[in-house]
Amino acid sequence: MPSPTYAGDAPRGAPHPETTAIDVVAIRELAARFEHTPGGLLPALHAVQDRYGHIPRDAVPAIAEVFNLSRAEVHGVVTYYHHFRSEPAARHVVQVCRAEACQSMGGNALMAHARLRLGCAADGHHGRSADGRVTLEPVFCLGLCASSPAMSIDGELHARMTPARFDALLAETVAATEAVR
Ligand code: FES
Repeated sequence: MPSPTYAGDAPRGAPHPETTAIDVVAIRELAARFEHTPGGLLPALHAVQDRYGHIPRDAVPAIAEVFNLSRAEVHGVVTYYHHFRSEPAARHVVQVCRAEACQSMGGNALMAHARLRLGCAADGHHGRSADGRVTLEPVFCLGLCASSPAMSIDGELHARMTPARFDALLAETVAATEAVR
């Protein structure tokens, strides 16, 4: 297994750590900002995910050390909360609301359609489409409960979703990306 890198190891012009190994010192410093905050592990994980787009596997021991927890405890929190990704997201991120109001208005069928359409696994927190271009994630309330079911594509919110609208929005999003290549 490759060993983690440390600040200063990377030569000038090297790819950003997001795309290669992580900077363990930077992760530790980020986590240490919340070391004395009650319940600081969660904001620390949010900060790491905001910077790296996911919680890199090599970050877990560093975070555990800061909070004097075991690696298993930190890993348990990462896998418990749907928000946290253990792998980098794909080019596009689709989030389908799984909370109650949306479920009662067809959210389950929407998620099932999205999984089928994208070729994602039928369970698990996060799934990648068969072509690797889309990450599909559950999310718990997007604040559009009165216009459910709701979802977002690349951070843009969409209400009163149907499978047909899902297909149209996805095709639009992917086409727009291809057009600017
Ligand atoms: S329950 Fe889905 S947006 Fe609130």
